[in-house]
Amino acid sequence: MRERKAVLLAHETLTEDTFRIVLHAPEIAAGVEGGQFVHLQVPGFSLRRPFTVADADAETITLIIRRQGRGTAALEQVKPGSRLAFLGPLGNGFRPLPGQGLLLGGGIGTAALILLARRLGSCTLVMGGRSSGELWLDQVHLPPSVVIQYASDDGSQGFAGNLVQYARKNLKPGMWVAACGPRRMLAGLQELLRQRKIPGQFALEERMACGLGACRGCTCDTVKGNALVCKDGPVFAAEEVVFS
Ligand SMILES: Cc1cc2nc3c(=O)[nH]c(=O)nc-3n(C[C@H](O)[C@H](O)[C@H](O)COP(=O)(O)OP(=O)(O)OC[C@H]3O[C@@H](n4cnc5c(N)ncnc54)[C@H](O)[C@@H]3O)c2cc1C
Ligand code: FES
Repeated sequence: MRERKAVLLAHETLTEDTFRIVLHAPEIAAGVEGGQFVHLQVPGFSLRRPFTVADADAETITLIIRRQGRGTAALEQVKPGSRLAFLGPLGNGFRPLPGQGLLLGGGIGTAALILLARRLGSCTLVMGGRSSGELWLDQVHLPPSVVIQYASDDGSQGFAGNLVQYARKNLKPGMWVAACGPRRMLAGLQELLRQRKIPGQFALEERMACGLGACRGCTCDTVKGNALVCKDGPVFAAEEVVFS
C-alpha cells in the first residue's frame, strides 16, 4: 500500500488527556468506512501508530486520540500546517445490520463509532466512562437524528453504571449493537447479546507493527481460529471473538 501525506489543519483539546486532530486527506476522506483506521507516522518514531478514523467529510478525516505513551504525547505537540505520513484506510469497518443501531463506546473506543453514527443517520450513540470529566462526546457535532447518551460509573453524567449495565436495561428486540472499548466491557456485552439473541459487531484493538497483515503481531482468538486485527478486523462479528 502506498504511503500518503496529510496536512494537519486543526488541533483541539477535548479533555485533560484527549485531543482531536483534523487532517486534510481528500484521497481517502469520502470513501472511508466507520471502524477503519489509519496507521500514522508520528514524527521522530519509526513504528507507525494505529488510530480509528473517528470522522470524515469530503476532504478531511478527524482522529480523536487519548494520550497513552510517548508516541501520542509527541503527536499532541504537532502543529497545524505540518505534514504527516500515513497508510490507510486499513481494515474492515462496521457493516450496518437491519434494525435500530445501539452504538456503545467505552472511553476512547467511542471514536470508532462516530463516523458509523453519522452514516447511519438514525441511531443511539452512548459514551461510557468513569465520570463526567472523561466524557467528550458533546464536543462532536452529529445530526439530531443521532441520539446521544452517556453512562458514568460514578453517576456524575447520564446513566449511573457501566455500558454493560446500560445495555442490560436498554437493549430491545430488533436492535443491533456496535461496540468498541475495553475487553472486559466487550466480553460482558458478548454474553448479554448471546442471552438476548441480538446481533452485534465489535471493533478490537491489539498492538500493531506493520498494520498490513505481514508481521502477524496483532493476532486475536476467534471461534474460527486465529485472526489478524489489522487485516481481518478490526471489526468482528460479536459472537466470533473469543475473550480469554
Ligand atoms: C485499530 C486500532 C484503532 C485505534 N484507534 C485509536 C483511536 O482512535 N484513538 C486512540 O487514542 N487510540 C487508538 N488506538 C490505540 C493507539 O494506537 C495507541 O494508544 C497508541 O498506539 C499508543 O502509542 P504511544 O506511543 O502513545 O504508546 P506506547 O505505549 O508508548 O506505545 C508503544 C508501542 O505500542 C503500541 N501500542 C500501545 N498501545 C496500543 C494499543 N492500544 N493498540 C495498538 N498499539 C498500541 C504503539 O503503537 C507503539 O508501537 C487504536 C488501536 C488500534 C489497534
Ligand atoms: S500488525 Fe502486522 S499483521 Fe497485524
